[in-house]
Order: sequence, then structure tokens, then C-alpha cells
Amino acid sequence: PVVGQEIPHEAASQHVTGRALYTDDLVVRHPGILHAHPVQSTVAHAKVTRLDVEPALRVPGVVRVLTAADVPGVNDAGIKHDEPLFPDEVMFHGHAICWVLGETLEAARLGAAAVEVDYEPLPALMTVPEAIAAESFQGAQPLMERGDVSAGFARATRVFSGEFEFAGQEHFYLETHCSLAVVDENGQIFIQSSTQHPSETQDIVSHVLGVPGHAVTVQCLRMGGGFGGKEMQPHGFAAIAALGATLTGRPVRLRLNRTQDMTMSGKRHGFHATWRVGFDDEGRVQALDTTITADGGWSLDLSEPVLARALCHLDNAYWIPEFRALGRIAKTHKTSQTAFRGFGGPQGMLVFEDILGRCAPALGIPAHELRRRNFYTDGQSTPYGQPVRHASRAATCWEQVWRDGDLETRLAEVQRFNDSHEDIKRGLAITPVKFGISFNLTAFNQGGALVLVYKDGSVLINHGGTEMGQGLHTKMLQVAATALGLPLSKVRLAPTRTDKVPNTSATAASSGADLNGGAVKNACEQIIERLRVVASGKLGVPAADIRFADGVVSGLGTKATIEWDELVKAAYFQRVQLSAAGYYRTEGLHWDSSVMQGSPFKYFAYGVAATEVEVDGLTGAYTTRRVDIVHDVGDSLSPLVDIGQVEGGFVQGAGWLTLEDLRWDTSDRPTRGRLATQAASTYKLPSFSEVPAEFNVRLLEDAHEDGAVYGSKAVGEPPLMLAFSVREALRQAAAAFGAPGVCVDLASPATPEAVYWAIESARAGG
Ligand code: MTE
Ligand code: HPA
Repeated sequence: PVVGQEIPHEAASQHVTGRALYTDDLVVRHPGILHAHPVQSTVAHAKVTRLDVEPALRVPGVVRVLTAADVPGVNDAGIKHDEPLFPDEVMFHGHAICWVLGETLEAARLGAAAVEVDYEPLPALMTVPEAIAAESFQGAQPLMERGDVSAGFARATRVFSGEFEFAGQEHFYLETHCSLAVVDENGQIFIQSSTQHPSETQDIVSHVLGVPGHAVTVQCLRMGGGFGGKEMQPHGFAAIAALGATLTGRPVRLRLNRTQDMTMSGKRHGFHATWRVGFDDEGRVQALDTTITADGGWSLDLSEPVLARALCHLDNAYWIPEFRALGRIAKTHKTSQTAFRGFGGPQGMLVFEDILGRCAPALGIPAHELRRRNFYTDGQSTPYGQPVRHASRAATCWEQVWRDGDLETRLAEVQRFNDSHEDIKRGLAITPVKFGISFNLTAFNQGGALVLVYKDGSVLINHGGTEMGQGLHTKMLQVAATALGLPLSKVRLAPTRTDKVPNTSATAASSGADLNGGAVKNACEQIIERLRVVASGKLGVPAADIRFADGVVSGLGTKATIEWDELVKAAYFQRVQLSAAGYYRTEGLHWDSSVMQGSPFKYFAYGVAATEVEVDGLTGAYTTRRVDIVHDVGDSLSPLVDIGQVEGGFVQGAGWLTLEDLRWDTSDRPTRGRLATQAASTYKLPSFSEVPAEFNVRLLEDAHEDGAVYGSKAVGEPPLMLAFSVREALRQAAAAFGAPGVCVDLASPATPEAVYWAIESARAGG
């Protein structure tokens, strides 16, 4: 079958030759297009007491300034109705107050600079501890509980407690936010948007304009990366472009430059955690009691589901019998933090992996042994009540990494190296991942597709998912070719559009291939069922005995065959429908957010990574010497794509945990609240030099997942969390500078500077 074949990404050659089109490349097709530029707040929190746009209108080339007074529908860009599109109170430094439309981008920019704004400053909260002190929270405060933590602590022989505050992450997709809107002669609004959620972009645009959903069509060609940053955040930008197009009758383009994107759009949530954990003499976890507080920024956005996923992943791959976790969302005067690959899962898991890394030396147990000893075993359930099916897969991945990565020998080598080097030390850590696949909100777990077979036998597919580089379209082509028994060359894919497949979910939660693959397969199967009957008549065998493979249709017990193209033509003349709308929904899910209990996930994805680092004790600088990964993607739909996802996810996770350092101005100067890291020059991303010198990625074999598309599992997010192994290796290397058994606190991100301070603390005895 075509699924499982190692084929390149469907647009790889376009990507590397520059022929792949992104939203902003379409500008040239719209002569007379207007350009939108924001007027951004220069303070973190204030009432806008005066807004004078007249000076902008005197700038040559400025066509119009969009303000709240222009909104025909609802002045709000969020699904929670807490995100005024044109605010009268600015909530963060960089908040867009109004938008200027110009004949050129430069005219719009000069116009925006001419707009006069007066502010009445209000106090601004910049950190989670400040928000906690001010009791500034937003949204629900869910509690997840199992058993009796006090009984667990009574049983425990060793109890530790601590506090941990860690940073978020900038998405830094290569393509910044971009929307292009056109209104046709019937008033139909057509929007090209770099969006992971075209249907929701459509919803928000129709609310803002006060028009029904059928008046708005959203298309996404492809994104130059989304990573969750385009799950919710594109809607307001699309609404501005659509509003401008409606009011002027001209096409409008809105594309943020990098600094605008970084200062205006939401990021991964940083979190703050306080925790107490109890172990028995063997290092078995008895109880965990924790309060985690997400830094939500100025509005809710996706913070509630992000927090829910964080709570659902505190356990990672570990059995925690007595469990109590309270979640809160701080309201601060920063960008509204949002989805980012892993969606709170990485943050929840980081809290507990940090606990294990910190406590292992105090327990006198090697960190790898402490982790392995606490793995779930089959038959156990998560703190939210979902049985951990295939729990032993974590152990299987672990054993394979242990063996293939030669860990026994290398751990001894690291020890020898550290004994004989004073100023350089090495660390080798191994960590697991267990990640739940499905949206917590059950309703989102549905997908749709439209499959068209033309009279000549060629096939065009549409599905509800969006392509952001992850290879979803490649997989959907493979699924369709397999389900129809055709070579890949027969199948073509059309861009994602809300007028082809309606009411779609975000391409998120790693579920793009599961949901849309299910829908594409369903549509193909409907067509195949009809064609079977036609073929049965031609070949004289029962319909159930017809087989479709490689473009040839055959029947059991007969040598006669028909070409696919012939069969399709015959079906057309018999007036058999050659197109189908496909649909899929994930069965068996339930989730009660009021008690934080249920079985929200279809299955868990597992993986294990071992990372070896070398750290310079004089500077804290480090290199990643070697990484070994075994990751469970079920039966891979597309192995090259999946290995790329594992590699990319790992490196992106390592970036979050070790390099990428978002800094806001927390001083009391007038610049308070300004994002200091506004560009690649000050925000350090992983680059070639941070890719591990030796990087071995293997997919777990014999991992068929029953009930999923061709036995495959989702891959998009889980590998990001394999990067905990880098952080833990750095912690162990830092500890090697101190006396044996020293406990090391490590800041996150573990930048060279942070590692240096961890080394200093290890030298001072922890
Ligand atoms: N890979 C690339 N190249 N670019 C991206 O933007 N996004 C990630 C992941 N891999 C992303 C990516 C995120 S956040 C998710 S949820 C999944 O892809 C979404 O795609 P899928 O559900 O089709 O796997
Ligand atoms: N990832 C995981 N879970 C989710 C997401 C996501 O992007 N969106 C909603 N639930």
C-alpha cells in the first residue's frame, strides 16, 4: 500500500526552490491592494483617553483608518468575548489600538506613526508571582484529585517541596501572521489566511462583520509553520483585513513584520508551580500535591484547555497513587498566551520531570533508575481516571534506547570522563514521554473531507486539515491512494477551504492525520462501495470479491481485470455518483471538565530519548554530543515525514528548554511591559550548531494501533517533550562539578548563563 511508503513531503521541491506559495505571495494577483499597519500601544496597561486619527489621513497615500466605530458586528476577536479588536483599554505593550490602510505599506506605516494617542496609565502585572500577589486570575480554577494525598504523605518516608517558575516560548514560525481579504460583486468575502483553524477564522470574521457564515470563505494554501501559534491568533488579523476590504471595496493585505508578530501575538504559556512530593524508601512516588499557575497574558484565548492538558500531563509516564493538582490562570499585561506544540502538556510534564531530577540525588538513586521505577504498568489509570493502555510501550522504548544507545557503557564512560576532567563535565540522561491524543473537548474530535473522482479516473481530494509543514497533505494523499487502490500519481490535493469542507476543527492536538485521514478514508470507501457494484457487473464476481490495487480492478476467482480509468468511465455512464463527502468522529471519548475526570484521549503516544551533553565549567556553555530516540507512531503512515517530525519536535523542545529566553521589561521605567526580545538578534533559536552531533531517531516497530487510520498514531507534538533529556543531562553535568549526591536546581530555559549558576550552586554544595 501507499501508506507506509517513504516518500518526500508533497511540496518539498517547492519549499526548497522557493516556488511554494504562501498567503503574502498572492498579493501580486490583486492590483490596487491596500496595506494595513497597526498603531501599537507604547504602554503596558492604560485607558485610551484620546485617539486622533486625523493626522494620519493627511499623510499621502493613507486611504482610511479603521477604528471601533467602523465595526458593523461585534468588536471582539476571541471566542471568549474578552478580546476587543479595537480596545479602549490597552492591555499590553504593543496592543493594536487601530489600523491604518495605505496605498503602500510605507504610507500606512507613516500614517500609523501620525495617529495621536493619549493614555491614562494603569498598574501593569508582568510576572506570575505579581499576579498571584494581586489575585489577578482569569477563567476556571480546576482541581484534579485522586485518592488521599495526606494518606500518601503519611506513608512516604521522604518528603520534598519546592517552587519552580519557567518560561514560555515564541513560535517563530518562518511566515509571520498574514491575511488577505477580497470582496466580490455579490458581497461574498474571500479571505486567504495563514490559519490552522479556517472555520474559526470564518466564525470570527462573520461576527465582526455582522454577516452570516455563508458570506465568508476562508482558504489556507499552506503555512510557513504554525506550531499552535495560528490556532487562535489569526482570527483578529483576518477580521481587520476583511473589515478593510468591506469598507473600501478594495483588496486588503495584512502581514506582520517579525517585530510586530513577536510583540502582538501570543506565545507558549510560562508557568509557576509550588509542589510537595512524597517517596517511599525505594523511591516510589506516594503522593503529589501541586498548584500550577499558567501565565495567560491579557485574555483567556486557549488558556483554559492549555491548563487542562497541563493537569492531564503532570503524571507523564509515572504512576502517582495519591494526587492533587490545582490549576489557575494568571491575568498579566502581556500578549495573550496561546497554543504551542504540546499545548500545556510539556509544561505539566516539566514540573514533574524537574521534581524527579531534583530529588534523585537526595534519595540516593540514579535519576534514570528513579524514573524507570515509577513507570506506569498495564492496568493502572491516570489521575483523571483513564486506563493507561499499552503502558508497557514506554518500557519497550526505554529498553530499546538503553540497548541501541549503549547506555550502560556510556554511563560508565561519562563517569570516567568526569573523574578525569576538572573544568569540563558530561551528563547523560534518559527520559520518557507519554502524551494523550485527542482534543480534551470531545466535540472537536471530528473531521471532514470531499473526494472527487473525475470521468478520466483522476482524483481530487479536499479535507478539513491545514498544511503547516508537518506533512499532513502528504499523508492524506497516501491515505486516499491506499483507500482507492491507486498509485499516488492519480491523486491530487486542493487547498483547504471552508466552502469545500465546513465546520472543521483546528489542525491541532496532533490529530490532523487521525481526524482528516479518517474522513478521507471514509469518503474513498463510499466511492469504492459504489464502484464495486459496477465492477461486479463487468467481471461477473460478487461485489465483495472485487479488489482495487495499483490502479487495476480484479475479482477473486477470475483472471479478468479492468483498469481503474475504464471502470470509472463505465460508472459515469451508469450514472453512479463519483464524489463523496467523508466524515469521521473519534468514538469512546468522554471528559467532564467540572471534575476533571474521564477518558479524553483515544490513545497515548510514547517515546524515550537519551541525551549526552558536555558542559564547560568556566562559562556554562555546552554542546549536545549524542541523542538516541525511539518513538511510537504506531504503523507509520509516512516514515520520512514522521522522522522529520520527531527530529523537528525534539529540536524545538530543546530550544524551549535550553536557549529561547523571552524577556519582558519588568522595571518601573516607562518601558515597563515592553518585550525586550523582539527579533532573532535577541531571541536565540536553535540552529545547525545546536543540532546534536550524533542524532539517532528510530520509530518503534510492531506498534500497530487498532482503530486508528491504517494503524498509525499521531506524531506532531509528542516528540517535543523528548527534549527533557537535554535539560536533565545538563543538570547532571552541572551536578558533576559538586560533591557526589549534590542536588541541583536548574532554571528553565537552561541557557549557558543558567547552567553556569547551576554549576556554581553545585560547587557550593547545592
Ligand atoms: N511541523 C511543522 N513543520 N510545522 C508546524 O507548524 N506544528 C506542530 C506539528 N508539527 C508544526 C509541525 C503542531 S503544534 C501540531 S499540533 C501538529 O504538527 C499539527 O499537525 P498534525 O495534527 O497534522 O500532526
Ligand atoms: N494541542 C493539544 N491539545 C489541544 C490543542 C493543541 O494544539 N488545541 C486544543 N486542544
